[in-house]
Amino acid sequence: MTAQKIAVIPGDGIGGEVIDSARAVLDAVCVKHSISLSYTDFDWSCERYANEGAMMPADGIDTLREFDAILLGAVGWPGVPDHVSLWGLLIPIRRAFRQYVNLRPIRVFDGVRSPLRDADGVDFVVVRENVEGEYSEIGGRMNRGFPDEMAVQESVFTRVGITRIADYALELAATRRKRLTSATKSNGIVHTLPFWDEVVAERSARHPDIEVVSEHIDALAAKFVLDPRRFDVVVASNLFGDILSDLAAGVAGSIGIAPSANLDPTKQYPSMFEPVHGSAPDIAGRGVANPVGAVWSAAMMLDHLGHPAAAADIVTAMAATLAEPHTRTGDLGGSASTREVTDALVDAVR
Ligand code: NAI
Ligand code: MG
Repeated sequence: MTAQKIAVIPGDGIGGEVIDSARAVLDAVCVKHSISLSYTDFDWSCERYANEGAMMPADGIDTLREFDAILLGAVGWPGVPDHVSLWGLLIPIRRAFRQYVNLRPIRVFDGVRSPLRDADGVDFVVVRENVEGEYSEIGGRMNRGFPDEMAVQESVFTRVGITRIADYALELAATRRKRLTSATKSNGIVHTLPFWDEVVAERSARHPDIEVVSEHIDALAAKFVLDPRRFDVVVASNLFGDILSDLAAGVAGSIGIAPSANLDPTKQYPSMFEPVHGSAPDIAGRGVANPVGAVWSAAMMLDHLGHPAAAADIVTAMAATLAEPHTRTGDLGGSASTREVTDALVDAVR
């Protein structure tokens, strides 16, 4: 079997530490399932930006194009503005490779304490539109420095964009508990979100077996906290999905375990897999970062590459190590090091 090619971008801070862990777990599970992956490492990061003036080389996107998937740690470092690290690397990759789905599963695992009193059994997925909506480059600033200084930023919602994200969410719901919640705000945002609602309703009509509910984003945020068990698949625009998925990660107990996938479901271009957390400068270099978010992201990568059994083995191993107090990191109230958790995960997948 020819190896599937993985581009690895550890990035900054704890990015490298959690990616090392994910690689160790991948190595173990790939041996067990006879999967062949080949890795190429890229040093694209804020450190590179400081030395060379760019997060990645000018031909960076073309270099990545030939890979089957991209595994990313985290980028961002004090001294480099966050919009530089985001717009210099992550957003160009998402857009050039038409990764129009941002997928964020949320699960409250045994042994992980949610800040909610009762969150047992929470298990849902946020499907965020990832390439248009509120995160557009259309707009500008005028009259800088004058009292009438102003900024305008346009949202862009297209029929193609809403259709494909709705279809992805509906198809995902069909494989799960068959409930889809669509985040909206069509009472206040009178052009784009009524259009979103219309297209979601049209696409939903093709899936009579799926129960589809539309909820305003403000009420939905409250329900994430008050009754998170009612959700199965939640579909949302770029900005709404960004905020809801961090809220959901908070409900699940720690940002350190939350994974994400930026997917081109057509598989024409490489998809990118990364933990939700950032580079955590406050704990970087101490060997205490929770590697589970990166490891779970690696499992999502295996699933996307056509290895669902190997992916499921990793998630089972994660659940087992999270359930044991001595294999939890500090963010989960434990005292295990990144290395100890990694070793336990590797043992569990073997
Ligand atoms: P952060 O996620 O790096 O850290 C927030 C808090 O959570 C910190 O106290 C940190 O120690 C803790 N934390 C995060 N991941 C953890 C893990 N795996 N194990 C244990 N504790 C963990 O977010 P912050 O501090 O807002 O951002 C730091 C830098 O990371 C910034 O430059 C930011 O732009 C960047 N960032 C990058 C992201 C990406 O690459 N996708 C996402 C979010 C932030
Ligand atoms: Mg975010």
